[in-house]
Amino acid sequence: MHPLIQRIAHTLALASLLAALPVHAHETLKLDAPKPNIAPTPPMGWNSWNKFACNVSEQLIRQQADAMAASGMKDAGYRYIVIDDCWQKSRDADGNIQADPERFPSGIKALADYVHGKGLKFGLYSDAGSLTCGSRPGSAGHEFQDARQYARWGVDYLKYDWCYTGTRNAEAAYTIMAKALRESGRDIVFSLCEWGGSKPGRWAQTVGHLWRTTGDIYDAWEGKKGWSHGMLNILDMNAELAGESAPNGWNDPDMLEVGNGGMTTTEYESHFSLWAMLAAPLIAGNDLSKMDADTVRILTNKDVIAVDQDPLGKQGSRALREGDLEVWARPLADGEHAVVLLNRGKTPANMKVDWELLGLPNDQKADVKDLWSKKVTKGVRGSYGGKVAPHGVIMVRIKAAP
Ligand code: GLA
Repeated sequence: MHPLIQRIAHTLALASLLAALPVHAHETLKLDAPKPNIAPTPPMGWNSWNKFACNVSEQLIRQQADAMAASGMKDAGYRYIVIDDCWQKSRDADGNIQADPERFPSGIKALADYVHGKGLKFGLYSDAGSLTCGSRPGSAGHEFQDARQYARWGVDYLKYDWCYTGTRNAEAAYTIMAKALRESGRDIVFSLCEWGGSKPGRWAQTVGHLWRTTGDIYDAWEGKKGWSHGMLNILDMNAELAGESAPNGWNDPDMLEVGNGGMTTTEYESHFSLWAMLAAPLIAGNDLSKMDADTVRILTNKDVIAVDQDPLGKQGSRALREGDLEVWARPLADGEHAVVLLNRGKTPANMKVDWELLGLPNDQKADVKDLWSKKVTKGVRGSYGGKVAPHGVIMVRIKAAP
């Protein structure tokens, strides 16, 4: 062979060999398009998993969308209706992902249209591995194809899980899907569900809009069941992560359990208050079509939601811990302070927050609003407090008076 032809052939062979190699994209993949500015405050919505697990269908999703619109949840700011695992069944001969035809006979596009028709947004779930956690087809190797499909269907939100990923590098795997979503032609909130193992708070700010920091929540005040954690356990794992959260890139301590029956009303008030202090995405996980009055009252408490959605987007932190008693504080955009007095113990406790802890002068006069009782106390100096129920909170907003 002529040496020149030989060189060309060699180059071509090398090129095709490189093309066939698994993607070593984590060294080189660039996210050319910036992250869309679609989660300046933590996303609010509903997700099927906590209550319904794999028992999802188009009737259920329509019913939950109807309930979100009719129950006051939509008015309170909830927007996304997200189908978690098990909506998928298979891929067709061209590799296109197919919804389960028995559970979603009208198809995903029709369902997304229905949800949009209610003035809501629509989300789906997939996984960076070969299979999802529920053993449905994952997106590994199909990222761009899936992202284009989601865009055609009208998907606004993707939760992307981490089962069956073998030795994949998390940053690399999530960056590929981030790129695929940004090139899909549609703005899609990207919710990373990697459970915190690779410390996503350190790399995901450029990749996604929220990232799970822990394994799964379960509906209990505290405890550990295999892979899952009670509410306080999740809280504790998030206490040190405040610096890693910011507008458009939020720590996600997992979805809400309010209304699912495993905690008392007092405990659910605490759960909701604490998630607001964490600037957590507020993704309800209960049956919106069967809510009692307390569940609606908790999930639609507009003062607590305003703390969660505060435009400064600064996650709160634990300012004080003495045994079972904790003070959590969060600075707000208007210079006010949100404070939670948390009693983890089994007996009532007198608790207070000292102005000093908030960086306010001791003689500063302030107006204090209790965000659960709605009582306003004016001209308070030095500290504020009261008797906190077992497993309860006092949550206030403190405004320094001029
Ligand atoms: C993982 C996730 C959960 C849920 C299930 C679905 O456990 O962390 O939030 O999505 O998978 O199988």
